[in-house]
Amino acid sequence: MNKELEKKVADAIRDPKNIGEMPDADAVGTVGNSECGEMLRMWVKYKEQDGEKIIDKASFQSFGCETAIAVASLATELIKGKTANEAIELKPEELSGELGPLPPMKIHCAELVQGALRSALSPQNKENKKESLAEPDHELSPTLKDSLNEGQSQSEDSSLKIKFLDE
Ligand code: FES
Repeated sequence: MNKELEKKVADAIRDPKNIGEMPDADAVGTVGNSECGEMLRMWVKYKEQDGEKIIDKASFQSFGCETAIAVASLATELIKGKTANEAIELKPEELSGELGPLPPMKIHCAELVQGALRSALSPQNKENKKESLAEPDHELSPTLKDSLNEGQSQSEDSSLKIKFLDE
């Protein structure tokens, strides 16, 4: 990683935005990268504006590298005010935009963020089963750590569904 990118990542993770679970989220998505072992979970909350359902806020938790955390922080700010379809269309380089071009070995970090976002926004995701804007579903928002601990203590029918990006 070049010095300029290192500095931008360091700046972004010094004060990451929107980190942590979101108890009243409307949707959640979790992805993992089986190569590097990093995992990322994103929560999304919608609101109605001018008759359209747009993203009100988003948050994330990560067992990821610093670049993934920096991109997730930027992405959760970038998608505010967008519709789910607009956010799904965002490419990794758009999500990591403020950091500048990522070196080849770090592109998958932005793809991890894109994957978690698409997982949360995708209507067919089993995790993302909440349709209503009212009645928060607290089962949607365990912490990533809680889910992993739960998954380790249960047998194969664990409720934690992690989508590995390269499968
Ligand atoms: Fe794998 Fe960054 S090194 S997500």
